[in-house]
Order: sequence, then structure tokens, then C-alpha cells
Amino acid sequence: MTAQLIDGNALSKQLRTQVAARAQALKAKGVTPGLAVVLVGENPASQVYVRNKVKACEDAGLHSVLEKYDASMTEAELLARVEGLNNDPDIHGILVQLPLPEHIDAQKVIEAISPAKDVDGFHIASAGALMTGMPGFWPCTPYGCMKMLESIGYDLKGKHAVVIGRSNIVGKPMALMLLQKNATVTICHSATPDLKAMTLQADVIVAAVGKRNVLTADMVKPGAVVLDVGMNRNDEGKLCGDVDFDGVKEVASYITPVPGGVGPMTITMLLVNTLEAAESAAN
Ligand code: GUN
Repeated sequence: MTAQLIDGNALSKQLRTQVAARAQALKAKGVTPGLAVVLVGENPASQVYVRNKVKACEDAGLHSVLEKYDASMTEAELLARVEGLNNDPDIHGILVQLPLPEHIDAQKVIEAISPAKDVDGFHIASAGALMTGMPGFWPCTPYGCMKMLESIGYDLKGKHAVVIGRSNIVGKPMALMLLQKNATVTICHSATPDLKAMTLQADVIVAAVGKRNVLTADMVKPGAVVLDVGMNRNDEGKLCGDVDFDGVKEVASYITPVPGGVGPMTITMLLVNTLEAAESAAN
């Protein structure tokens, strides 16, 4: 069996068209959705990510500002800048790109962002809202994964989902979203003694570790749905995920490619969150 691809580029295009239309409607009411992206330091991967986020905003008709600061920026200066953006009526979403330089406490900065503008969904208030099923911003990567499952009409009720990885950004919120859709959820991580025994039971597997070949074909139940959140480089320097794509695609029913899978969906959900922040502010 060869799995069907869940095409993150195609789904993103569709969703971004809807975002653009809603942004246009909001603009007609005098409100242009605005995202501020703050980058501190010179991390090369971060530079690419923030450029892509700003470009996606422009393409969807959202206003965006990219603020770049030297790595020597102090924590106090960054906190003051976040406060300025909290109070800026033209800015509806604030994204402080991670990682931050070591002398800055990232959690402290995240908690300084107004929850109403926390389009990354990293604030404790957003995490708490997700945990309790209250309205709030969902972290973009797992939110994008949920949209991918929705796009194939997948009903999670009664299914067993295995999440590999327990980060605050992906693994933990992913598990909560799957649980909210009535899946039975297992979270696996570096201290899980027998990962394969867990993944072989899974109807849905989300790999979010940041290491190549964490999931191979022998670890997948035939017909399972596999979502690959990884962003790694192989020996030839080519982008690859956490999943051994060539092997697993012969066993799974659906699989997301890397690149062109979860990656574009992350940015798409950032646009959705920013739009919804602006819609809330306008009402
Ligand atoms: N660094 C890597 N991914 C992300 C993300 O989704 N948001 C932010 N703010 N920083 C990141």
C-alpha cells in the first residue's frame, strides 16, 4: 500500500484564501489585521522563519511589522518593547521568535505578551484555555496538524493517537487537541522504554522530536495516519522530517511530506490566529 499525501501547501493555499477574504471584510470596516514579529539576534534559521511569516502576512493582505534587534538587547528592553506592542491598536498579534539569546528569560517574555495578542498560543493563559476547553489561541503547529486531519475527514473519536515528543510548543498541546476530539492519547518521549510497542498500537502518529528516522516502517500499524512535524537535514543537506518517509509511506494510509507538509500549515494557522485576534478586537 502506498499512502496518500496530505499536502500542506495545497491546504494552506485554500485556508489562506479564506483568511485573505476575511481580512478584506475586516478592512472594509476600517480594521487591518496586524502582526508584529520580533527577532532578537542572528539565528540563521529564525531569520528564514520570520521572513516567511512576514511574507505570508503580506500575501494574505495582513499588515505586518518585523522588528529586528541586536543580540545584545537586554531583557528589560525587550519587555518594554512587548509592552509597547500590547498597547499598539494597529497590532493584533505579537510573535517573539524563539530561541531568544541566553541572557533573556523566554518564558518571562512570553508571559509579558497580552493573552489577547498571543497568536503563538505560548502564554500560560493560552495553555490553560486549551487544557480546559476555553476559548483561546492554539499553538500553530499542532493546530495545523488538526486542520490536516480535518481535511481528510478523519474522525478521531475512539481512535488511538500516539504523540512522540512532549514539548510545550508541539507535543503537549497536540495531545490536548487530540483528546478534545475524543481520541485516546499516548504521549511518548525520550524516557519511553519501548516506543515501537506504543506506535504499533496507534491509528494516528504525530512525530515531533526533531530527530531523523524516529519513526520507521516496522513501527507503524498498516493503515495508520502519520503526521511529521520534524524539520531536519539529512546527510546530503536536504530537508527531512522525523519520519522515514520512503519506508513509512508503504505502510500508512495517509502521510505528511517534509517539506510541504506541516511546515506551511504552521504559518497558515498563525495567519488564522492573527485574523481572529483582529476580529475579536474589532467587535
Ligand atoms: N521558533 C520555532 N518555532 C517557533 C514558533 O512557532 N513561534 C515562535 N515564536 N518561535 C518559534
